[in-house]
Amino acid sequence: MLGVWRPLLSLALSLAESPIATWAISVAEIQGKSFRSPYEGQTVNEVYGILTAKDNYGGWISDVPSSDPRESNGLRIYGPHALRGVSVGDDISLTGRVAEYRSSPNDLSLTELDLIRDIIIFSHDNPVKPVLLGEERTPPKGQLSRYDDGPDGSGWLAIPNNVTRVEEENDALRPELYGLDFWESLEGQLVTVPSPVAANFPDRYGAVWVYGAWPVSGLNSRGGLTVHFPESEGPPDAHSGAILIGRPLDNTKLPRAYMGMEMSDITGVVTYQFGDYYILPLTAPEVIWTPDERPSPATLRSGLSPCSLTIGDYNVENMGPRSWHLPTIADHIVSYLNAPDIVFLQEIQDDSGRKDDGTVSADKTLSRLTAAIARVSLYEAQYEYAYVAPEDGMDGGQPGGNIRVAYLWRPEKVTLVSGSHAGNATQATEPVLDEEGKVTLRLNPGRIDPTNAAWEEARKPVAAAWQTNTGERFYTVNVHYSSKRDSSSAQGDARPPVNGKSEQRMAQVNVTAAFVSSLLALDPSAHIIVGGDMNEFLQTRSVFAPFDGLLTDMNEVAGVPPAERYTYVYEQHAQEIDHVLVSDAVKAKGGAVEHVHINTWATSKGGQASDHDPTVAKVWVCEAEGGEGSQYNDDPESVVVQAPWNQVVVL
Ligand SMILES: *[C@@H]1O[C@H](CO)[C@@H](O)[C@H](O)[C@H]1NC(C)=O
Ligand SMILES: *[C@@H]1O[C@H](CO)[C@@H](O)[C@H](O)[C@H]1NC(C)=O
Ligand SMILES: *[C@@H]1O[C@H](CO)[C@@H](O)[C@H](O)[C@H]1NC(C)=O
Repeated sequence: MLGVWRPLLSLALSLAESPIATWAISVAEIQGKSFRSPYEGQTVNEVYGILTAKDNYGGWISDVPSSDPRESNGLRIYGPHALRGVSVGDDISLTGRVAEYRSSPNDLSLTELDLIRDIIIFSHDNPVKPVLLGEERTPPKGQLSRYDDGPDGSGWLAIPNNVTRVEEENDALRPELYGLDFWESLEGQLVTVPSPVAANFPDRYGAVWVYGAWPVSGLNSRGGLTVHFPESEGPPDAHSGAILIGRPLDNTKLPRAYMGMEMSDITGVVTYQFGDYYILPLTAPEVIWTPDERPSPATLRSGLSPCSLTIGDYNVENMGPRSWHLPTIADHIVSYLNAPDIVFLQEIQDDSGRKDDGTVSADKTLSRLTAAIARVSLYEAQYEYAYVAPEDGMDGGQPGGNIRVAYLWRPEKVTLVSGSHAGNATQATEPVLDEEGKVTLRLNPGRIDPTNAAWEEARKPVAAAWQTNTGERFYTVNVHYSSKRDSSSAQGDARPPVNGKSEQRMAQVNVTAAFVSSLLALDPSAHIIVGGDMNEFLQTRSVFAPFDGLLTDMNEVAGVPPAERYTYVYEQHAQEIDHVLVSDAVKAKGGAVEHVHINTWATSKGGQASDHDPTVAKVWVCEAEGGEGSQYNDDPESVVVQAPWNQVVVL
């Protein structure tokens, strides 16, 4: 469904009516070589152009092309009644005032002519040739702006951000280098996107992120664009070549797109609205091709060795005991993750779901989930669970839901180290030596430093000490860091873009790192697995700096191709914000990890059970009996069998 589109109300940025009137200048001169028009606030007489498109608020004209690629020859004509009697294809001249319109101070401005008068029509039915993107003009791959940089080398993800304002600087454009400059240099112009491919579902206004037949980076096997480090050293690419396709100007409807859907060529005008560059198509494209492949279940399974474990991780998006998606998530855990030995869950709601009634227990939610898992697995997978109940309303998220992290585990394979009881919402656990001189947690499981300011209105991480059924110990931390709420648009005015709550996440990583360090201080070869929804890309180097030298991404350990590392899609970016990180002792034993794209590959947003994909990792938490070599590469247990839930799986 298309949402409600906010009307474009023109606001004159300079209130004083300029006395200057300029005659017969070209559209290219009005657009100029930088973001803002050199004629801003001035009245321009006898501007010539062919009307390329109309909407309810005006239209767009196209003048003869400039030889300077920085100067667009297209221009927005604003005025709901200004173009009455003028048809697309009419060659006209008109008089108006040059304005820079923006709907929010965080946006870039759109150069337009308002206060339109003195329209003269010279002829009808004049064709306008669109600029063929990818041939005549090709979007750059790298950064969006020359100001997307910082001391941490993370480019558009650098911290500090919100350092520079593009509109204030108003530099000459570098369209061959920077994404914002590229699209700005085509503002108002008619363009064609050849063979557009959707990078995501439509947004809530119905607009779709696409890229066309031109070079892109981070292309994943599904056809999406993944945030990744480029092969050469340097900042992560910002996918500058992706562009939003807005509502078609003839009121036809865009296809219900999803990642990888290919459409017929789109011709439309480039504009800027609601914080992003858009192409408004003259008419809706057709669907040419869709990826039909369903995501495969994970190939990883728990090994027979007590040291060989599978660890699942899943943000189950506001799951209460009566959630519609609870049985679906249970099925995913069994059929797609192969019922891992331990599952890290995030966003488990209390027993009254979103009802704000003071309930904090989640026993009903988790016992319904574990019962559903048992049923789906034909009683093979009988999980136990643990969590630490939060204080009511203190951890953010949906009001009344009291979301928290939780662990599920299969007691035939692993158990919590006994001898200490679980902590409560305000008690901090810490690593200690038990009577046998082995490392355990004072409260097991327990929260990490829950009263630290880093966790204000945020989910507190829960640490646990575990043992295998041969008594070998290992440790886990299940986290759900603060979300990116209050971020600015990647194509907005603030550079680098505001990364909402990045400072809080940095502090949260810091507290987590301090806990991991305290464990390693007692046992330098501790096997530690830190996982969960971290709401941040590893490419945002500053946020994860406290983990440097302590923990390694399982994708690195396993050599997963960078473009396939994603668990979420936001705007044009497929991205890994859910991570499984391991200590050196785990890293040294090797392992594997798979992100199961059961939700990012859905064919509609409504078809997702959660907005995140689950992940499953296979790790070794001790030396297998019989010594080296038997550990991962040729797992003797690898045979194909018919699993009880009727799927062929590789053991
Ligand atoms: C970004 O900086 C501007 C000042 O340039 C400030 O007004 C705004 O509040 C800042 N935004 C955030 C989210 O920090
Ligand atoms: C946690 O337990 C401690 C010690 O028994 C107690 O003082 C504190 O009030 C408890 N906190 C909560 C939130 O129940
Ligand atoms: C990280 O924690 C240390 C103490 O462990 C503290 O000195 C430092 O300021 C913290 N840094 C951040 C960014 O919170």
